[in-house]
Amino acid sequence: MGRPDAQGEGDIMAGLIIAGVDGSAPSAAAVEWAADDALRTGAELRIVHVLDRRPYDITSFPVSDQEDLLREAAGKVLRAAETTARTRQPAVEVSTRLAEGVPAAVLREQEASELVIGNRGLGGFAGALLGSVTMEVAGQAERPVVVVRAEPHEKIGEIGVGVDDSDTSDPALGYAFEQARLRGATLRLIHAWQVPVHAFAPEITYDLGEVRAARCEVVRTRIAAWQARYPDVKLVENVQNAHPVDALTSTACDLIVVGSHGRGSLGSLFLGSVSRGVLHHARCPVAVVRSY
Ligand SMILES: Nc1ncnc2c1ncn2[C@@H]1O[C@H](COP(=O)(O)OP(=O)(O)O)[C@@H](O)[C@H]1O
Ligand SMILES: [Mg+2]
Repeated sequence: MGRPDAQGEGDIMAGLIIAGVDGSAPSAAAVEWAADDALRTGAELRIVHVLDRRPYDITSFPVSDQEDLLREAAGKVLRAAETTARTRQPAVEVSTRLAEGVPAAVLREQEASELVIGNRGLGGFAGALLGSVTMEVAGQAERPVVVVRAEPHEKIGEIGVGVDDSDTSDPALGYAFEQARLRGATLRLIHAWQVPVHAFAPEITYDLGEVRAARCEVVRTRIAAWQARYPDVKLVENVQNAHPVDALTSTACDLIVVGSHGRGSLGSLFLGSVSRGVLHHARCPVAVVRSY
């Protein structure tokens, strides 16, 4: 549970940040990101490892002597992550917790203000860009999920946020404005649009200038309330005729913020195709914020 007295200035971010660890390099990077964010937001950091016994259930011999070994190994994963966090941010309050069950389910049900995980873990096939826990947690958690990669990246001073033409991206906008304020970063408002392609009617054309002007208006309408609430956050408009995934991942930034799904998605349970594409192709951390 979040501590009511651990308030940052913005209520969106205050509370308890949970980092999920499995001993992999991406999860260590997630712990570092989470420690930095805990410092920024005034939150506590809790490091959680979920002991998943399913892979061991198939054995026909008694696993009792394996039990202790499993818990011992899990404890080592937690202690290593705790050291990583304390070394990175000594001022942050850090705790660890060993849970048991199905990792994605346990993680997404944690009561936290934010979940931070790696883009990959220890399993998966060699070429996979996203782990199964990553996909499931990012698509289904109620709270913002930040997905972090092991590869270091240099600081740019800019955050990118995807602006949809519906209010589904509103929570993502709120998260992005707050992160930009906390970091003193510029916020890049990214809105991509594409005109329909008519394979059998090439005579149908569009005035691109007009479409562009209309799209800029959409962005301004969407962000108006947030801009009023965060007048000091410096904004850059980035309205492009491009695929949203390209638009969102082509400019270098410190963090990309997207909603979990857009208007086009099949109901709210799934990670939308744009969010999924961004998670695949981004080179920096990505925050997926639950859409309405
Ligand atoms: N058992 C676990 N306990 C806590 N966090 C986990 C666990 N497994 C995975 N994670 C988190 O999810 C991230 C992605 O791992 P995962 O989706 O399992 O990738 P892979 O399929 O490559 O193993 C990890 O970097 C870690 O942050
Ligand atoms: Mg795994």
